[in-house]
Parts: sequence; C-alpha cells; structure tokens
Amino acid sequence: MKQINTIAVLTSGGDAPGMNAAVRAVVRTGIYNGLKVLGIYKGYEGLLNGDIEEMTLRSVGDIIQRGGTILQTARSKEFNTPQGLEKAISMAKVFGIDALIVIGGDGSFRGAKDLSQLGMNVIGIPGTIDNDISCTDYTIGYDTAMNTVLDAIDKIRDTSYSHERCSVLEVMGRNAGWIAVNCGIAGGAEAIILPEKEFDIDKDIIIPIVEGRNRGKKHYLVIVAEGVGGAVEIAKYIEEKTEITTRATILGYIQRGGSPTITDRVMGSRFGARAVQCLVEGKKNRVIALRDNKIVDIDITEALNMTKTIDNELIALSKILAL
Ligand code: F6P
Repeated sequence: MKQINTIAVLTSGGDAPGMNAAVRAVVRTGIYNGLKVLGIYKGYEGLLNGDIEEMTLRSVGDIIQRGGTILQTARSKEFNTPQGLEKAISMAKVFGIDALIVIGGDGSFRGAKDLSQLGMNVIGIPGTIDNDISCTDYTIGYDTAMNTVLDAIDKIRDTSYSHERCSVLEVMGRNAGWIAVNCGIAGGAEAIILPEKEFDIDKDIIIPIVEGRNRGKKHYLVIVAEGVGGAVEIAKYIEEKTEITTRATILGYIQRGGSPTITDRVMGSRFGARAVQCLVEGKKNRVIALRDNKIVDIDITEALNMTKTIDNELIALSKILAL
C-alpha cells in the first residue's frame, strides 16, 4: 500500500454554504494525522494551472461561518478533455499529491473518477445546494439554501396576504425538486411544481387556487422548481384564469450564498473529517455520503451509478396540507 504523505483539496462546480467547513475539516484532520495538505484554488482549473498552496491550521481560521468557498470554484472545459486529464495528473506529480479530495456535485465526481482511472486516488465530498447526488441523503449547502428560500417565502406571504395576491416563486435545484418540495411544505404552498412529475397547469395549479378561494383563502403561493421554469408565464396564466393578481419571483443566486446553518457546518465538518479518515485507512476512490443518518463511504463508480428519486410521500403530504 502506497504511503500517503500529501493530500490536496479543491472545491468544484457551484459553490454551497458549508464548503468552507469541509475544507477546514480536511485541513485540520489532515494535519492532525501528520499529512501535508495543499489547497487548490478554482477547482480543476487551478490544478491545471498549478494554483496550489500549502494549507496550515491558520489558513482555515475564521472561515467556518462564511458562505461560498475560500478556495473558489470554476467549471473547467480544458480539464474535461483527455489532454486536460493527463495534464492534471502531471501537475499532481509536480506537487507530490498522493490523493485528491474533491468537494462538489456529481459533475465534479465524474471528473474525479476520470482521474482515478489514470491512477490518482480521489475522494468525493457531496457539496451542492440541490441535494441531487444519488448516493447520499444529504449534500452540503442544502439546508442553508432551504432556509434562505423559506425566509423569502415568509416575506412574500406577508405582502401576498396584504394585497390578496398569488405569488409564483421559482427556486433552484437544477433538474431536481428537493428544494422546491421541502420549501413548499414548510412554506405552506398551494401548489408545488417539480421536474420529476408531469403537471397539468389547470388541474395542479388553477383548481387548487380556485377551490382555496372558495374556502376563504386570501392569498396563494405556487412553488416552481427551476427544472420546470416558466414562473413568469405561469403567473400570467393564473392571473388570466382566476383574475387574482399574480406576481412571479425568481429567487436566483441569493439561494447559493449566506452564512451556513449549523447543519451545514456540522455536515461539512463530518464529511471532511471522514474523507481524510478514508485516506489514513488506505482506502481509494470513495465518495463520502450520509445514508440512514450515518456517515459512510462508497466506491466512486458505484456511487455514480446510483439513482435517487423524489420522495412521493412528501409530494402527497404537500397536497393534503395545502387544503
Ligand atoms: O448546482 C447548484 C446550482 O445553483 C443549481 O441550482 C443551478 O441550476 C446551477 O447551480 C446554476 O449554475 P451556474 O452557477 O453555472 O449559473
């Protein structure tokens, strides 16, 4: 078994609150275990450009409460080519990197898997606000993003009530509806439109609103996941059909920022520590995951072949609670 002396960590893809907690945990548990820890700036792009520096216990001081990622992040086109991968392996050799920890989403893990096939030992830590990585029940940033959305919903509800309006709120999640379904339940939405489920605008939006109005409701909230999109058009249609004044809000990048919640700080810390632990134990090519409330590690190829479907019970519950 090759002795691991030097490990490197990078953040890749969309940033997520709690990534800094994971970086901090990797650096501190790495140094605690006698390893040299390098920080790679701007994801795989930084690996190709040698934008790399040694991290100390102090380089990760005062970051656990900060959103974004101190290592910055990027989406690199060059890395995703055979030449780019070879260059990444050469740069890793130049810097003496024995193992690479990648904090990001499944696109970033696919890049890590490609590197593993060229001999690099890689460990993935799930970091994305979307919670759309199949092998894990939780991804760093998801809780903070949902709390940001919920805060927006509560504010929108105040003004919707005052004006007796309907609001259509589009939330992030790429092709997944995890943020939408949970925030819809927590925010008391009349309708939640998800990319995972076909929808009929009259049956799923107009009828619940009209029936709600007949029961005495004074304001209405429709959550649309970005994977469905079209919040502005949906709002227009609702207003035409119901004559209820309807406004659309697309929350956008506000969902990616902000100080991480306690859940994201603790999950980031636990995922980061487990990634280093895997390397100390001599494991290769793993993804760290939360499954049934336990931190586990899974072979990266197996992890990337898994699928995860939206929870039908949550969808059913959201409909009952919207009555
Ligand atoms: O994956 C996180 C996320 O914010 C998605 O919800 C969204 O679809 C995407 O990133 C936006 O990516 P970009 O930062 O490239 O605009």
